[in-house]
Amino acid sequence: MAEVVRVSELSKHVGEEIALQGWVYNRTDKGKLCFLLVRDGTGFAQCVAFKGDLAPELFEQIMRIPQESSVIVTGSVREDKRAPGIPGGYEVGIKELKVVQAADIDYPMSLKDHGVDFALDHRHLWIRMPSQWAILKIRVKVMSAVREYLDSNGFFNLDTPILTPAAAEGTTTLFETPYFDEGFAYLAQTGQLYNEANIFSFGKVYCFGPTFRAEKSKTRRHLTEFWMLEPEIAFCDLDGLMEVEEGLISHIVQTVLRDCQAELKSLGRDVSKLENIAAPFPRISYDDAAKLLIELHEKETDPEKKDLLKFEWGMDFGAPHETEITQRYDKPVFVYGYPTAVKAFYMEPWPGRPEVCKSVDLLAPEGYGEICGGSERISDHDLLLKRIHEQGLPEEAFKWYLELRKYGSVPHSGFGMGVERVTAWICGIEHIREAIPFPRTIKRVYP
Ligand code: 4AD
Ligand code: MG
Repeated sequence: MAEVVRVSELSKHVGEEIALQGWVYNRTDKGKLCFLLVRDGTGFAQCVAFKGDLAPELFEQIMRIPQESSVIVTGSVREDKRAPGIPGGYEVGIKELKVVQAADIDYPMSLKDHGVDFALDHRHLWIRMPSQWAILKIRVKVMSAVREYLDSNGFFNLDTPILTPAAAEGTTTLFETPYFDEGFAYLAQTGQLYNEANIFSFGKVYCFGPTFRAEKSKTRRHLTEFWMLEPEIAFCDLDGLMEVEEGLISHIVQTVLRDCQAELKSLGRDVSKLENIAAPFPRISYDDAAKLLIELHEKETDPEKKDLLKFEWGMDFGAPHETEITQRYDKPVFVYGYPTAVKAFYMEPWPGRPEVCKSVDLLAPEGYGEICGGSERISDHDLLLKRIHEQGLPEEAFKWYLELRKYGSVPHSGFGMGVERVTAWICGIEHIREAIPFPRTIKRVYP
């Protein structure tokens, strides 16, 4: 039997007879020729059946093969610049074809256009389509680039629990679950607090896993279950943190550009917008961003836009504000020093300005908004306890967290990066729900 080769490796087998194992994504007939677009997980490749080369029954069978049938195609690899596919440029001249299973002919996600709700109801099939496959393949690369960067820069990956005893990112977005005789547990909104314990044993750590927010927001940037990368670093201040963030994001973008050209091309992504994403990234203070937004609001003459741009010091940014800030740069931009009131309880105050905290958000270009959020953490025990009281958080549940400030406390910082937001930005897609295999939103837990 011919050697089984994957679509992504076809270029290395020109002139050889090989076997492809996969599924028929599409079929087109041109008289004596029948073209199958076969996908195998690594790409999509054109396979050509020529009537004159094949037994009549086999050619007939290929002409009738339903979309999504599983097949083993044997044939010889040819280079042909015009051959469609991802990456394309190579095709297989069919000599034999074995149907593993002939798909039912009522395939719900057939090649015609589907509404987004229909597509989401059939997500288990939708992920087979080229666009979804390309997005998810880029997500895989984003995740491996994250690990590659941190593992080679002295970070240790320690997992943090998903069932937790208390809120860490505000009490309004908690998923609660009964927990035996202990009362209630909550799905983790962040692994940060446990990362903070881990740095006192390992110095530089990260956790990387699913994160839950009972988020009422229906925006294109919010999921109720998403994947967050969270690095945490001992002896690190806000400037040191921004250096790690820009190094990481540059590495991710450059790695995707290097390894996912075909996927980006198939998505129609303008890669020139990604090519100059390299450290350093611009840094502006919240104060300066606020000043800019207030001026823009004053100057705006279109009443509708003026209303959207309304801003005063102390507010968190809305999407229109983020767009105004980010469109001034062709790289992600750091905004640091947010008002304490709009950020989480654990953030270190700005020296001499307690109304401001040592926080930093990284905003992506092209309207994608916040991709990373982080801060320097409060390292003083009494100040942290005061914050916990002020926020009405249960002191008992934070006893262990407070203890970290009693035994060798140091300045330390960390951030969280949303995998789906970064993937959506790199892919240039509208909604982050396509950047996770099975999205969870307030309206959806199926399939
Ligand atoms: O800014 P957030 O809420 O920060 C934290 O949770 C910190 N504890 C992280 C840390 O310092 N260790 O979330 C961090 C990032 C956001 O910038 C965003 O990219 C993503 O997580 N994110 C979401 N992604 C999708 N859907 C949601 N509902 C998200 N909420 C946050
Ligand atoms: Mg945030």
